[in-house]
Amino acid sequence: MNSETTILTGHVLCFTRSPFEGNPAGAARVEEAVAISDGKIATVGGLAALKAAHPGAKVGNHAGKVILPGFVDAHAHYPQTAIIASWGKRLIDWLNTYTFPEEMRFSDAAYAAEIASRYLDLITANGTTTVCSYCTIHPESVDAIFAEAQRRGMRIAAGKTCMDRDTAPEGLLDTAQSAYDNSLALLKRWHGLDRLTYAITPRFSPTSTPEQLEALGALWAEHPGCLMQTHLSEQTDEIDWVLGLYPQARDYLDTYERFGLLGARGLYGHAIHLEPRERDRLREVGAGLVHCPTSNTFIGSGLFDMDGLMREGQRIALATDTGGGSSFSMLRTMAAAYEVGQLKGRALHAAELLWLATAGSARALHMGDRIGTVAPGMEADLIVLDPAATPALEQRTACAQDLWETLFATIMLGDDRCITEVRIAGRVVAGGGASPALRQD
Ligand code: GUN
Ligand code: ZN
Repeated sequence: MNSETTILTGHVLCFTRSPFEGNPAGAARVEEAVAISDGKIATVGGLAALKAAHPGAKVGNHAGKVILPGFVDAHAHYPQTAIIASWGKRLIDWLNTYTFPEEMRFSDAAYAAEIASRYLDLITANGTTTVCSYCTIHPESVDAIFAEAQRRGMRIAAGKTCMDRDTAPEGLLDTAQSAYDNSLALLKRWHGLDRLTYAITPRFSPTSTPEQLEALGALWAEHPGCLMQTHLSEQTDEIDWVLGLYPQARDYLDTYERFGLLGARGLYGHAIHLEPRERDRLREVGAGLVHCPTSNTFIGSGLFDMDGLMREGQRIALATDTGGGSSFSMLRTMAAAYEVGQLKGRALHAAELLWLATAGSARALHMGDRIGTVAPGMEADLIVLDPAATPALEQRTACAQDLWETLFATIMLGDDRCITEVRIAGRVVAGGGASPALRQD
């Protein structure tokens, strides 16, 4: 079947390698146009060549704007949408005061559906087309986000949060057995369906018993194609707590490792205060470390060692950690990663920030062969970024010397007003420019 082709023209940003491996500015090509057909990227190149290759294609003109992959947020808690930006607490108090009471509301399937839809609207408006989200202990919360993402054609990962230890409140507890049984039923229902991926989700070792971690390690061994997500070494108080609860463990990571919860498809949120042994093991297995900079400054957790971890060859992703993170925006998240980098003595280049928010996160989610890069054959989750969307940006980017300077200023000053079009599998789903930008050439 010969389906309709659309050509988008603008500055098309195409990463060809990681900007952390060599000169950052040389990690991407900027092309003139990208052709989309059947929900995928068909061709990338000069406008004239693409028009010749796709006669009759519609052309969306985004002159002066940047076309790039949709952002990939590798760690979020969609059920915390309504309590984002809650004041004055550090991790354990923040969980008890704000998070757990809100998560209890997700036993109500209608509430879960309302927040899932609200959350996906918010991230889409901010240019995020893929997220890896925690849910709550309620299976209803997992059905809600997957059903809504499926309806929208989004590629997402999510999973039931498991907690069976009396450190979590009464209304938010499962058991080792029910965590296994419910996670299994959910992964059978959703994993691999359309664009959906299941992530086995023990919240973190202080809210699980060893029996629950063992059961979830067994489930992961039985379904190794699933992702596994959890938290690791976010705050120093938390580490002390973990070592008290697991006296046999060599370190925090060992509480996962000993139960089969360390692997290449494992995603370890925060990973700030790591011991040398933990760093070695994470690198050896090729695990994903997820940097959540707005969360780390907002909850007062510490400064992620991006430079050291990248140099030693870790696989690193970028994420909002909504609602411990203080923004739904990956632009704001990149700006915070830059600020954290500065406090650690390493100024991240715009190419490094953008790569982390797209190809880097996609790679950590093991989706890098489908999303996160603009190249033929990749799924057409694309956004258009306007570097002159606001008066402040317009005057700043007017005097930029090159595209990287323009992009850096857009990262630092930008917000959802810069996201003028969002396409999921080729289809326009958000952005003011939707229909005017689509015209027959
Ligand atoms: N550690 C365990 N649960 C959470 C959570 O919901 N948010 C953050 N930031 N850290 C956690
Ligand atoms: Zn988290």
